[in-house]
Amino acid sequence: MITTESKITDWSSGADIFRCAHCGGSLQSSSESTSLFCPSSGHDFPIEDDVLIARRFVSDNNKVAVDFYNSPLWPKFRFWEWFTFLCNGGERRSRDKVLRYLPKQSGLKLLDVAIGDGVYLDWLPADWSVVGIDVSTVQLEACRKRAGKRDLKLILGEAEDLPVQDGRFDAALSIGGFNYFNDPEKALREMVRAVKPGGTIVVSDEIPNLTDRMIFRKIGLPGVDRWIVSKLFKLGDDFTDMVEKYRTLDVQAIAERVLPGCRYERIWMGVGYVLVGQVPE
Ligand SMILES: C[S@@+](CC[C@H](N)C(=O)[O-])C[C@H]1O[C@@H](n2cnc3c(N)ncnc32)[C@H](O)[C@@H]1O
Ligand SMILES: [Zn+2]
Repeated sequence: MITTESKITDWSSGADIFRCAHCGGSLQSSSESTSLFCPSSGHDFPIEDDVLIARRFVSDNNKVAVDFYNSPLWPKFRFWEWFTFLCNGGERRSRDKVLRYLPKQSGLKLLDVAIGDGVYLDWLPADWSVVGIDVSTVQLEACRKRAGKRDLKLILGEAEDLPVQDGRFDAALSIGGFNYFNDPEKALREMVRAVKPGGTIVVSDEIPNLTDRMIFRKIGLPGVDRWIVSKLFKLGDDFTDMVEKYRTLDVQAIAERVLPGCRYERIWMGVGYVLVGQVPE
């Protein structure tokens, strides 16, 4: 539910940045602002609880993410994220290691892919306009509450199929979801498509093989580490299996294919990475 402290989005302005999933046409707002529609194909995209519904159902890894981030497990696991940030000087300082790569430009148009509950929104300049996309309705609802009066449009949809027109954003940001997107490479290509030539792409996550550092794996007891991650850290069985499956994901190779010459830097005492690239002119 939207509270009175949160701003209700003005969907009538700027609806044309959104793209129809069926024909690629620009969307327009309906007179009652309960949906955006595509004049070319006649498709309607509902707005529910101030969130534009571009895609309601997802599969594979993205479904594992939906089930996890819509569940009570994520707030419990988040303690460990917070603890990692604490060991790196606190959450704001840790996140600044990523956010500092966004252009310092007034009125910046930012696309946040996998925005979650938008915990860092308050740390972004108030005059930036943000479009945030995520697969989790629970996270988007929390994000709306947190956003207060800033210019923010939220979309339920997938990173791999961004429902936005080409080149409309100054920058795209994605923190904390990239490794386990159904198709990280496709998602990165989508971010490049959405950002104008010369614009900036910033992607960050933990290193995919982080669990290699755990102690029991080193002494031949990987099952104990699995139990710790799934049950003690509260990642749950399905997400833990996914983490295990993608341990060898080569983020640098993906980045090099999509954004040749981009920068890859290890952060948070080596447990995280940040990719920074410029969309070719
Ligand atoms: C660890 S949270 C990070 C949220 C936020 N960016 C932050 O740094 O706090 C990961 C988010 O990615 C979202 N997510 C996972 N897969 C996604 C996908 N394929 N497309 C869009 N969002 C996705 C999840 O729902 C979740 O909100
Ligand atoms: Zn259409």
